[in-house]
Amino acid sequence: MSLEKAESKTVQEMTLQELASFCTRLGFFYPSGRIYGGLSGFYDYGPLGAELRREILNDWWWYFVERRDDIWGIHGSIITHPRTWVASGHVDSFIDFIVTCKKCGAEYRADHLLEDSGISVPELTLETLSKLIKDHGVRCPKCKGELGDPTPFNLMFTTYVGPKKTVASLAYLRPETAQLIFTNFRNIIMTMGVKLPFGIAQYGKAFRNEISPRGFLFRLREFEQMEIEYFVNPKKLDECPFYNEIKGMEINLLSAEMQEKRIKEGVWITIEDAVDKGLIGCKWHAYWIAESLRWLKNIGIDYKRLRVREHIKTELAHYAVQTFDVEFLFPQAGWKEIEGISNRSDYDLRKHQEYSGAEMHIYDDGEKVIPYVIEPSFGLERVILAVLFSSLNEIKGRRVLSLHPKIAPIKVGVFPLVSKPGFVEKAKEVYEMLKEEFKTIYEAKDSIGRRYARADERGVPICVTIDGQTLNDNTVTIRFRDTREQIRVPIEDLKEKIRAIFREWSTYGA
Ligand code: GAP
Repeated sequence: MSLEKAESKTVQEMTLQELASFCTRLGFFYPSGRIYGGLSGFYDYGPLGAELRREILNDWWWYFVERRDDIWGIHGSIITHPRTWVASGHVDSFIDFIVTCKKCGAEYRADHLLEDSGISVPELTLETLSKLIKDHGVRCPKCKGELGDPTPFNLMFTTYVGPKKTVASLAYLRPETAQLIFTNFRNIIMTMGVKLPFGIAQYGKAFRNEISPRGFLFRLREFEQMEIEYFVNPKKLDECPFYNEIKGMEINLLSAEMQEKRIKEGVWITIEDAVDKGLIGCKWHAYWIAESLRWLKNIGIDYKRLRVREHIKTELAHYAVQTFDVEFLFPQAGWKEIEGISNRSDYDLRKHQEYSGAEMHIYDDGEKVIPYVIEPSFGLERVILAVLFSSLNEIKGRRVLSLHPKIAPIKVGVFPLVSKPGFVEKAKEVYEMLKEEFKTIYEAKDSIGRRYARADERGVPICVTIDGQTLNDNTVTIRFRDTREQIRVPIEDLKEKIRAIFREWSTYGA
């Protein structure tokens, strides 16, 4: 089926590949280097994608940094001192296993190859992967050739700093933003006068040389992370002053214990019950799970399609005491991680203290403490996918992208009902006035119906139309994307009315 044809199916059936085609057609994302055939694992943001990206990052920053008084934001460099990655364990352990076909030379990520063949992988060790490939007689999907043994492959991109390409000048593009937070820990203590508990946040590019990038924006080689390291005295992991605010929240939880009993569906449970039953190890961890879910819901992700899955023992990272993934229910692919929330203990700070010699403690109640850290770590592109799948609607037979106005790339469309003198001048006047404050587009081409349809697909929440009555009484219509209702508003009140509509969006949205 061609992608264009596939797009005319109902939105519920849209696959990641069909979403990719939709996004490229509308100008959200393009395969990077498309004129040369594209480069696997890299995407460029088009005009709508670039605005969407900016709005989500801004909202994340506002929600987790600006409006709080216990979190500071930083912006670390992409290439940093290479010892950072030795201390963090990435040089030794940031690996996946690759298998190569002995006949055609095709390369595969071993666990993906097994999973694609319907074989579940209980743990990512060389021995387990080799055994599973042999026991199940897995062969090359392309040529049915015999596969070689799995070999470890480090996912960090390397480069050289300065003109000489030597071992001494070898450096890495950061595979996560988190380590820049740990290496700046002392700077923040010394310059910002912080006290426990407090957090440091940053967003920015991360790079992983994935063996098999796939799933449109899902598994990329260059992507963006939004991460917080929240530092807590290890003796006070249950002293969370915000706990009462969130303890009643219901979450869809799939614990490690349930997975060990082969239970596949999560249960809806309150945060308080999950903590009391020992399913979530401490109140600060519970708080960051709740706060993450609240933000994801606020930007328009369907809460019913979010679940919190605990890592089972064999998938737990070397630094983690307990980890939960926030997963989104993707069409066809099923539940997939969009955010990780780990209790990383004091592992990273201790390692950087050991490797750099710098003291990584802070005083709390007069006591020297190396804090524990809870780490909510979002991947921007996966959040975008969840937002898009949650927002794609079919309303009265037409495709509508019901984005929340706060993240919509274009906030307002201004249209003259017809392209006639008088209508056009007035519409341009309104457009000039609105674009001072809102990202606005002006369009006069095509019938008004087609312009509305185009705006709906691009996720424009409201359109302002200049019609015959406008020329008589200086009023315009505001048309709502999701309900198609229209109201009449005097031009002099228009800006204030739009502000109110966006503030109280749930009253107007689908
Ligand atoms: N600092 C912790 C950390 O990096 P992670 O689970 O490896 O943990 C966090 O990554 C998030 O980054 C994931 O939940 C995912 O959203 C995003 N992410 C990771 N690898 C990615 C990739 N190859 N492409 C797109 N997003 C990715």
